[in-house]
Amino acid sequence: MTGLTSPDGELMRHAALLSGADMSHTRTDESGVPALTLSDGPNGLAMNLPDWSGKVPATCFPAPVALAASWDVDLVHRVAAAIGREARVAGADILLGPSINIKRSPLGGRGFEYYSEDPFLAGRIGAGFVAGVQSAGVGACVKHFAVNSQETDRMRVSAELSERALREIYLAAFEHVVTSARPAMVMASYNRVNGTYVTQDRRLLTEILRDEWGFGGAVVSDWGAVDDRLEALRAGLDLEMPGPADASRRRIVAAVENGDLDASVVVDSADRLRRLAVKWGGGAAATANLEEHHLLAVAAAAASIVLLKNDGVLPLSTTGGRVAVIGELARTPQIQGGGSANASATRIDSPLAALRATLDRTVDFAPGYSSDPDQVQALADEAVRIARDAEVTIVFLGPDEGSESEGYDRDTLELPAEQVGLLTRIAATGTRTVAVLDNGGIVLTSPWSRDVGALVEAWLPGQGGGTAIAQVLTGAVNPSGRLTETIPLRLADTPAFASFPGHGGRVFHGEGIFVGYRGYDHAGREVAFPFGHGLSYTSFAYEDIAVVADDKGLGDVLVELTVRNVGNLAGADVWQVYLRPDGGDDDRPVRTLAAFGKVELEPGATARVRTTIGARSFARWDERRDGWVVDPGTYAIEVGASSRDIRVEVRIDRTSTGPALVLTRRSTLREWLTDLSFGPALIDAAQDADPSGGTSGFLCNPVILTMIGDLPIERLFDDPSTALSPELLAQAVREAQRQGH
Ligand code: BGC
Repeated sequence: MTGLTSPDGELMRHAALLSGADMSHTRTDESGVPALTLSDGPNGLAMNLPDWSGKVPATCFPAPVALAASWDVDLVHRVAAAIGREARVAGADILLGPSINIKRSPLGGRGFEYYSEDPFLAGRIGAGFVAGVQSAGVGACVKHFAVNSQETDRMRVSAELSERALREIYLAAFEHVVTSARPAMVMASYNRVNGTYVTQDRRLLTEILRDEWGFGGAVVSDWGAVDDRLEALRAGLDLEMPGPADASRRRIVAAVENGDLDASVVVDSADRLRRLAVKWGGGAAATANLEEHHLLAVAAAAASIVLLKNDGVLPLSTTGGRVAVIGELARTPQIQGGGSANASATRIDSPLAALRATLDRTVDFAPGYSSDPDQVQALADEAVRIARDAEVTIVFLGPDEGSESEGYDRDTLELPAEQVGLLTRIAATGTRTVAVLDNGGIVLTSPWSRDVGALVEAWLPGQGGGTAIAQVLTGAVNPSGRLTETIPLRLADTPAFASFPGHGGRVFHGEGIFVGYRGYDHAGREVAFPFGHGLSYTSFAYEDIAVVADDKGLGDVLVELTVRNVGNLAGADVWQVYLRPDGGDDDRPVRTLAAFGKVELEPGATARVRTTIGARSFARWDERRDGWVVDPGTYAIEVGASSRDIRVEVRIDRTSTGPALVLTRRSTLREWLTDLSFGPALIDAAQDADPSGGTSGFLCNPVILTMIGDLPIERLFDDPSTALSPELLAQAVREAQRQGH
């Protein structure tokens, strides 16, 4: 065989489909399968112009961090459908989003692009996004599967973690998106998991993704993530990107020809790509109304803003005394993060212009800070002078430009020191101070937030952010965003602090499942603002919670409650349902999010809201039993306004479910004795073998159990001083296996 001219033209035809044609297209073949155009991005179409001189103009919606903070799956669906329409108009068939990785550490450079530290929330928001994109006739590619929670060494690093953390935290959101929203594609990430490149991990790409979850689409590599093409193909990776990757194709063909690779593996992947192309390629013509999309971008940004603190200074009256607006970010806002997700906005509303247009008051502006160290003092002095004369001062703060991007992690959670210094000086003038944060990943707010009357987290709000901020500050929109990530008091408090981002090519997930609020709650640590927190200009009460569960304590649980707007303004509330195992051991999180919803209410109005807690929410992954297991016992179903503001609860009992522990010679004495059927059987057998009672008495002695309960039982059955013989053990093991244990 020379080059790509195989005598087996069929094989070549299949192999040709398994890598892209270039950076953003798949290949076609003689059968007329359309070539697909793939484009980023998760907060707006981020399609490169053909000459790579820039990107196709597109509506820049709020960054994913903001979108998720709306806790509004319908809104996310509408935004994603708009992105899908713009993709369709630009000729993209597959949108490379959503990005749903778990925010393990707030230092993660792509934190702005990810939804949450909580897999339940990330999964629900991600599913809404996929459904929205696909409703516009564009396939969605959920990424980056899996455990791609950092940028440092992202193309090689091995995330070393337990199966439990993998299942409960890092795979759970993908599982939900794949099983409920059926994305066209899944993108395999760059990193390794427990030593194996994800692109070559058959267990992840085939056994879990396809066999367990029923994924029927195609798996694409992240760009340049394929290390060994043959291994990747065997693992279930269909499409290598970018193309042309001729060497890979030659290797594939040669491997089949010399018997190293089964031809069916090639055909199966090629067929999956053909089906994908037929389904999503060359979709119907579409139109996109950019004016409407801009208004949607404004609405989405407004719904995402989180009011962290308010002493009553907000909402601002549109009339009254002088207002000072301080901070370059008010005039030149940071609207999105950097990297492949970066879109070319069709326009940008600045907060300063929007405030000037909204307020019927004198608005003075000073940039306040600059990246030029020579200007810092003069700019700060000017800002303080303006603030001193103002009734209210709104200070815009945010990390240095360029500090949040794909490709590198953040090196601090602190705001630039000159900004904090400026804020402190402004607050000291006695002006009422409102701080507005313009950032992707969370920033530390302590101790300076005590100096401000109100603190507004506006995130990277997209092109409509300026208008949205003005709407929220003036009360035209009542804030309703909630934190999807805890704001700690110190970086050192973050659960992954000790091991992020690892070294020597490995990152050990020492905190296991205790990521985000699970970690802070487990350690009983104070935080600045908890997961789920967010204020409103009105207040809500939760009443009449009712729960319907089956008597057996096995199935889904229906929860109903009444949300009442007890304040004087219309507003939207995000009600949150958490599960708390009663008397749980140290091995389980204090509480986990199990359902949520958002409801708009006029003053005094009520709504009866309903949700279902899936049976799986009660389960944890059991390493020994290799499956999802529900511990029997009582669980509190809690409803709250945040993870640390639980208002009502109902308790229900659950029955044990999940695979039984397989008892073997390596199982411990304790595991045998605590098994409901084998414990007593073992004691009886010992009694039969030694009627004096010495051996059974030994086994039943609580001190012995304390001392050697963790001993693999085969070691005990080798002891000539008791009647515990190898024969007796063999018989017990046979019986356990016969009964399916
Ligand atoms: C990013 C992906 C992106 C791809 C294509 C990669 O570097 O990790 O998120 O979709 O490039 O632009």
